[in-house]
Amino acid sequence: MPAGTIEQLIEAARSARERAHAPFSKFKVGATVGDEDGRIYSGCNVESASYGLTMCAERVAVFRAISEGASKLVRIAVVADTERLTPPCGACRQILWEFLGDGELILANLSGATERLRISQIFPRPFDRSFL
Ligand code: THU
Repeated sequence: MPAGTIEQLIEAARSARERAHAPFSKFKVGATVGDEDGRIYSGCNVESASYGLTMCAERVAVFRAISEGASKLVRIAVVADTERLTPPCGACRQILWEFLGDGELILANLSGATERLRISQIFPRPFDRSFL
């Protein structure tokens, strides 16, 4: 399962975080997904003055990967500048489940702390296409 190394994903997410458009919350997030062919795709959060149209870094990364023809997504790294490692919001958990399944989730901060999880650990009993 190539998908970029953990270090590659974290480094790319850190760079993406620098490009966050977060003038309202000032809370910058970067995310990078890796596909099974070893390609990686990054995203940052992009805020709107309407607040509600704001898009999280995780979904930007996933949607970018899909739009650029990624193969099966298998990993995501999320980087924010928090001591308690920042997890994906509820909306992103749904999207991560749909596009990564029970893939790997790597949380990291700017001080070098990291944690490796499975999506199912933060999103138990998901709703998905298997119900439709
Ligand atoms: N945000 C993300 O991009 N990802 C997360 O995991 C948590 C929250 C963004 C949305 C908003 O721009 C800012 O962080 C504050 O909620």
